[in-house]
Amino acid sequence: MIKAITGTKDILPEEIYRWRELEKIVIDTFRNYNYREIRTPIFEETKLFARGIGESTDIVSKEMYTFLDRSGTSITLKPEMTASVVRALIEHSLYKKQSLNKFFYISPMFRQERPQAGRLRQFHQFGAEAIGSNSPYLDAEMIIIAYSILKKLGLRNLTVKINSLGIPQSRENYKKILRDYLNKHFNNLSNESKKRFESNILRIFDSKEEQDQKIMANAPLLIEYLDDESLEHFENVKKALLKAQVPFEIDAKLVRGLDYYTHTTFEITSASVGAQSALCGGGRYNGLSKELEGPDLPGVGFAAGIERILLACENEKTLNIEEEKIDLFIVTLEKDLNDFAFNLAYRLRELNVSVELDYLDRSLKAQMREANKLNSRFTLIVGGEEFKNNLLVLKDMSNGQQINVPADDINKLISYIKVK
Ligand code: HAM
Repeated sequence: MIKAITGTKDILPEEIYRWRELEKIVIDTFRNYNYREIRTPIFEETKLFARGIGESTDIVSKEMYTFLDRSGTSITLKPEMTASVVRALIEHSLYKKQSLNKFFYISPMFRQERPQAGRLRQFHQFGAEAIGSNSPYLDAEMIIIAYSILKKLGLRNLTVKINSLGIPQSRENYKKILRDYLNKHFNNLSNESKKRFESNILRIFDSKEEQDQKIMANAPLLIEYLDDESLEHFENVKKALLKAQVPFEIDAKLVRGLDYYTHTTFEITSASVGAQSALCGGGRYNGLSKELEGPDLPGVGFAAGIERILLACENEKTLNIEEEKIDLFIVTLEKDLNDFAFNLAYRLRELNVSVELDYLDRSLKAQMREANKLNSRFTLIVGGEEFKNNLLVLKDMSNGQQINVPADDINKLISYIKVK
């Protein structure tokens, strides 16, 4: 049997209602904050992500779906949206039309990670990017939006963690201090962390190895070495969050796995989803546009994993959306009447009534069972003595009441069904 690729998932019709409800909340919230939707291609030139996210990150060095197309160009399925959105902004000179561009997106992403609960190879994110302003209010706005969406979904066990990585210069100075500290403990680091010592020293904070964690527990922290400008920016973000009553914790070890961050980083985790607890993450990336050969524009954004959020909703028993009902099931008693039934269904459907009918020449009983299974609000019986008298039998499934309606009066029929 051919199965779906490991780490990918079919989203079956019975799950779609929860996806749609989540997407509705996402779209409505972004509208309130004046974000406009952007859709970019599923694949891009590999160098966009290599340069944007950083060669030494796990995403670029281990997780991307990268292949040569038939013309020999290296292509990558997008592992995230930020680089693509900044590319689109530069390519279409959107910054010339508007000095601050606020985008949101809902899109599939691809990363070849080891699949487990809440970690997939094709997953979906919603997220936002605001490019063109260094205002700390925008950093706060991102966190407020993400938190607000998660609250609207009914989630309770949330923790908002924030940190600041400061401007690149203070980070470079701090890296020297961290290097001096880790030099003293180098032999006790795990092999992975020994490699990171050279390639991406801050990421040693993310190590899950006990031996590393022991060493990092006493490591000097970047936040203690931030310059005044970075500290002020961070203070303003915190103030705005306090005013908006978003509860947050400072996590001085929150470095995040993408290289483009400057100033604020944040994550919102849930205690309801197990090991993969980050429902969303983001931060400021003031150097990214320039890195991608665009103008020197500051930016900030976040992305949230939809599968993880839906898992949290399931575990917290929120977002219990019922499948939509159909309005009418047409029960056809004789094969000869299929023509009439099909045509009636067509006319009603075109008039915005949701209608199903029997395509399997089933018995009356089987058709009624099907109508029940579909949660149909009404059934309409075509056939029998009534039909000989040019009448159809309409049954209200909520109370079992039946009435006869003229077979040629579609408006009358609709007035009973009283739809939409
Ligand atoms: P990220 O932290 O790599 O950030 O991903 C954001 C969220 O996507 C995660 O918190 C998680 O919920 C979800 N996610 C990531 N990988 C997987 C996976 N393999 N399976 C399921 N869900 C996953 C970014 O992608 C940045 N672009 C966020 C950002 C936007 N920063 C600034 N602007």
